[in-house]
Amino acid sequence: MDVIKGNLVFSKSLNELVIRENAYIAFDDKGIEGIYDSFPSHLKDANLTDYGNALILPSFCDMHLHAPQYPMLGIGMDLPLIDWLNTYTFPTEAHFADKEVARRVYSVLAKELIKKGTTRVAMFSSLHTDATIILMEELEKAGVVGYVGKVNMDRNGGVNLQETTEESINETIRFIKESKKFKHLKPIITPRFTPSCTNELMEALGRIARDYNLPIQSHLSENVGEIAWVKELHPDTTNYYESYEKYGLWNSRTLMAHCVHSNEKELSAIKDAGVAVVHCPSSNENLTSGYARVRKMLDMGITVYLGSDIAGGDHLSMFDNVAAAIRASKARMKMDEDNTPFLNVEEAFYLATTAPASFFGDKTFEKGAPLHAIVLTDDNLPTVRKLSVKERFERAIYRQEENAIKAVYSENKRVL
Ligand code: GUN
Ligand code: FE
Repeated sequence: MDVIKGNLVFSKSLNELVIRENAYIAFDDKGIEGIYDSFPSHLKDANLTDYGNALILPSFCDMHLHAPQYPMLGIGMDLPLIDWLNTYTFPTEAHFADKEVARRVYSVLAKELIKKGTTRVAMFSSLHTDATIILMEELEKAGVVGYVGKVNMDRNGGVNLQETTEESINETIRFIKESKKFKHLKPIITPRFTPSCTNELMEALGRIARDYNLPIQSHLSENVGEIAWVKELHPDTTNYYESYEKYGLWNSRTLMAHCVHSNEKELSAIKDAGVAVVHCPSSNENLTSGYARVRKMLDMGITVYLGSDIAGGDHLSMFDNVAAAIRASKARMKMDEDNTPFLNVEEAFYLATTAPASFFGDKTFEKGAPLHAIVLTDDNLPTVRKLSVKERFERAIYRQEENAIKAVYSENKRVL
């Protein structure tokens, strides 16, 4: 048994932030044994790591990011979605036909995720199966767990980033079979978005998701031009979501990134199906997509998680994306002029930690849950008075200093 000690800060629910100062988390390879306010006497033989005055937070879940876009992070933010995909993104992803490129880029990405305190992901690879398996190998080696999808695209990808329908289906099956070798990484069905997938492919992916009992991830109502295009491709639909719903890609294990322009009907359909919205505020600003109505979604009882959406998003760190979600929510409030309360720090933090943990079937900082945690120090930051743990937590979200993360635990193991 191992025990770590520090100031715990974590969310129980959207509105309930728990602070336990100088508390002890006991855990072993099966998960958290208990959380205590004093050293538990029945664990006298346990191995104690005392982190002193440090903050111990749950580590982050990044519920939407594109691994093959990591090399273009911070480049080409001057175009809206469809032009951005064709000009920068698809040519970048095409390089991942080369397994050496995949190994080189993904080994760096996996380690960076851990250094930044992200231990669980729902991630898009490219359409290349071999590169996707390499991505999973590197994530597993670094200690990142979660879902990875081989991307499906059998139309509108240009010359170097497109499969035939048959290839796309066969490679998806090969991907699912090969990914069985991973302990902590699982496959997720990943039609890129409706314009990238023919109806025949969508139908096959719906069937595969059902046959193999797999979750699904894609993009929805991110950009006005994209929505108009989907309407042209599916003239029988009134809303974008129907292009997924028709093919069995719309259920309580579906993650839909963005939903910036989802209308009342689409939001109700999201709620009724139990689809989770992945809000990607940095990306929505960079690609001038707009500001999602996150408060409205939460008020409706819709499940919302956060994603970095690199490289539409420009920050891999979920600390930055939590702060971005708060700023985006303030901008949305100003647009609506209805005094909708913006997200506060603990609400946005919940969307990146405790909320998405449930997508993996996990609770946060509870007996029986796997330990996913970040240890943060802030002793080097100047103060003029003693800060509360709550204030230090707030500052940590907004103000990440180099090397502030002293340790990271993923799936009950120290990985940094
Ligand atoms: N829609 C389809 N593909 C993409 C992508 O790679 N990034 C974003 N932000 N939206 C998409
Ligand atoms: Fe995306």
